[in-house]
Amino acid sequence: MEPASHPHRSVLYMPGSKERALEKARSLPADALILDLEDAVAPAEKPNARALICAAVKAGGYGPRRLFIRINGLDTEWGADDLAAAAAAGPDAILVPKMESGAQIREVAARMATGTTPDHTRIWAMMETPRGVLNAADIAGAHPLLEGFVLGTNDLVKDLGAAQTPDRLPLVTGLGLALLAARAEGLICIDGVYNAFRDDDGLRAQCVQGRDMGFDGKSLIHPAQLAITNEIFGPSAEAIATARAQVAAFEEAEARGEGVAVLDGKIVENLHVVSARRLLARADAIAAIAAESL
Ligand code: COA
Ligand code: MG
Repeated sequence: MEPASHPHRSVLYMPGSKERALEKARSLPADALILDLEDAVAPAEKPNARALICAAVKAGGYGPRRLFIRINGLDTEWGADDLAAAAAAGPDAILVPKMESGAQIREVAARMATGTTPDHTRIWAMMETPRGVLNAADIAGAHPLLEGFVLGTNDLVKDLGAAQTPDRLPLVTGLGLALLAARAEGLICIDGVYNAFRDDDGLRAQCVQGRDMGFDGKSLIHPAQLAITNEIFGPSAEAIATARAQVAAFEEAEARGEGVAVLDGKIVENLHVVSARRLLARADAIAAIAAESL
């Protein structure tokens, strides 16, 4: 399947040092997995985690789940070795933390070009510092290998000196700027994590907010968060039915030589049909990976 058509409803972090989690993930209903070498792994564990993650990626067996390796920053003692090993292992993407400029993305791309990186390996950027968010447009347009952003909302809250409030009002500007930059360049954009992983109602509310803002999906910390996230970021049966009806109504109007249709008292123009077709394509892609996971 082409990466662009792959859904990214649920993107689950897992510490690269935990062999059991790496194994378990082969059967979890996540659209993508972030095998982490950065903050989820203690310094003493990093070389071991690097070896475990690269072996897991090479061994495969993850079915339709996309695999991202999150490396340590290139300004740390582990970053260069992480990038070289990750690029050689050939995951779907290398996720780079704390990106703050387009030049940093080009540096990652240049290093990948010197190794034996497979063609399918893309770059993703963590957007999680005030400077990174302010430079989001420069980062988003930096290199053709860049495919998406993951918001690092815990780091952003820390750097802003903001509070974690249920409505996320203190974060809305940052989330919106990253989304605008991503969409301007046709990138995928994934919302930050919800820390209280046993609080289903809180997670649901935050997923709805992120989905309504335009995020493609949410990054997660625990498998208990997968079902709700997949549900909220996947189109509902009702939304699919409406999209099909919009497309049909518009095609009938076109056949009559008209450029606009009316469905249930609402106007259906070309732009609504573009959104409806995109939703139907996403529903098809979700059905396809569900079938592949069986
Ligand atoms: N990915 C895959 N499997 C996971 C997982 C994850 N992120 N988190 C938990 N699991 C597994 C556990 O291995 C355990 O499996 P088992 O029952 O087969 O042994 C099962 O799910 C239940 O785990 P549980 O006991 O509920 O959680 P925990 O107390 O062991 O771990 C966390 C809680 C938060 C420490 C853990 O979920 C975690 O490390 N999450 C990722 C954190 C991270 O990556 N942060 C960096 C980015 S913000
Ligand atoms: Mg972070």
